[in-house]
Amino acid sequence: MTWKPEYSVGVEVLDRDHKILFDLVDLFELAIANDQHGEELEALFSSLLDYTNQHFGREEKMLREHGYPEVSDHHLHHADLRLEVEQLHERYLSGERTIELELVAFMQNWLRDHILTEDMKYREFFAPPGRDID
Ligand SMILES: [Fe+2]
Ligand SMILES: [Fe+2]
Repeated sequence: MTWKPEYSVGVEVLDRDHKILFDLVDLFELAIANDQHGEELEALFSSLLDYTNQHFGREEKMLREHGYPEVSDHHLHHADLRLEVEQLHERYLSGERTIELELVAFMQNWLRDHILTEDMKYREFFAPPGRDID
């Protein structure tokens, strides 16, 4: 996944998180393409999940600290994703190996959509045109 300037949410530290998440999804996809299985794949998936959770925590903390009015709604979007990924992951662990590609596609679509719709909503709040913060 290629990060583009139009994905910028106007907050440097959160843009950096999003770029790292794109890279982690790429690594996971590459591992599947290279037919990796078992522990290696599981380790990559864990780092993707861990980083996703860290990012959600960081983003929500920032929104809360700056008094962003839609923070509860934003938190719910994150919680929904966590649930969906956990369900896909459980299906994977229970032996449904074909789910790997579904998991990658889900993460790619979700990341893109969430950044462009939900995360973008706080862009204006943090960074009125012409001003970026970090
Ligand atoms: Fe978000
Ligand atoms: Fe985000």
